[in-house]
Amino acid sequence: SILEMEVEQINKGKYEHYMQKEIHEQPESLTTTMRGRLIRGGSCKAKTVLLGGLKDHLKTIRRSRRIVFIGCGTSYNAALAARPILEELSGIPVTMEIASDLLDRQGPIYREDTAVFVSQSGETADTLNALEYALENGALCVGITNTVGSAIARNTHCGVHINAGCEIGVASTKAYTSQIVVMAMLAIAIGADAISNQERREAIIDGLFDLPNKVREVLKLDQEMKDLAKLLIAEQSLLMFGRGYNYATALEAALKVKEVALMHSEGILAGEMKHGPLALVDENLPILVIATRDGCFSKQQSVIQQLHARKGRLVVMCSKGDAASVSVGGSSRVFEVPQVEDCLQPVVNIVPLQLLAYHLTVLRGFNVDQPRNLAKSVTTE
Ligand code: G6P
Repeated sequence: SILEMEVEQINKGKYEHYMQKEIHEQPESLTTTMRGRLIRGGSCKAKTVLLGGLKDHLKTIRRSRRIVFIGCGTSYNAALAARPILEELSGIPVTMEIASDLLDRQGPIYREDTAVFVSQSGETADTLNALEYALENGALCVGITNTVGSAIARNTHCGVHINAGCEIGVASTKAYTSQIVVMAMLAIAIGADAISNQERREAIIDGLFDLPNKVREVLKLDQEMKDLAKLLIAEQSLLMFGRGYNYATALEAALKVKEVALMHSEGILAGEMKHGPLALVDENLPILVIATRDGCFSKQQSVIQQLHARKGRLVVMCSKGDAASVSVGGSSRVFEVPQVEDCLQPVVNIVPLQLLAYHLTVLRGFNVDQPRNLAKSVTTE
């Protein structure tokens, strides 16, 4: 009806689509996610994280033999992005499960496990079934959702709400970045009993405080991403290379491109390049390489060189000031993003790629907010 259309326009404010609005509101959604949870103590008090819904369970989590992340789609990718920092700060092995695959295999889950269920809607059938399975097997079940009162929030032993605000676009954007931030805070909370990594934890907390500003800064790449989308509009396929903290960024960027722009895209672990993907490289196939500063930077530089040697058509994402050190022979297109604490870099890096997927979709004339065949919440198996 006309009324519905008007309400929708009011909800979208100055934006044309919900996905666009949700990408641009990430500085605010991230702020809400962290509100009241980061504690910067007085002069001699340490900085800490406070997650109210977990505080009574932290001891049990610390004693668990394994932390297993379970989710689907974007929520799985968010957990993958947080995995390295959780391993580092907790010292506990962290494994990853796609909910349906865990159930297909009836994979082992034990009483000594902490199972973390990540779901924006809190209603995804596969994730919910995996939760039931983990409960039967006696694991401590933690929920990370965006929906208060959802099935996953209700049926887990404890959890954290990401408080990203209602997400309407079928393709998840602001929930993804808020999920990563919550899991980084979770890593800090679990690791908080160790003196050895206190400095590292405090550096991440400082990074979290500044993160909304950095996201605001990276959103300025909007026009540049639109220009890039114009160049890619007629492509059949787009590869995304990432590794370390940003392997998840490559997977999530590829998921965005395929689900909304309806273009084949694949996230590739750069360390696996020689074991197959290199065969695809030629002067036609566009390849986006994530090469921001972290412990993997020099390895990623050599990946760029090898792709260049095979005449790859490269687009490189790098940290501010690094354009010269990643462009080989001036042939590749480069864009710079602000640098943040390494484990938070996936939050910054995904933003221009969300914008790229958005503009590709609009330019190709597809429905951004409701891609064909997809649903926001998949409540059937
Ligand atoms: C659907 C949506 C995706 C989402 C996935 C998991 O496939 O289209 O955007 O990532 O479900 O949803 P959840 O609500 O569990 O995070």
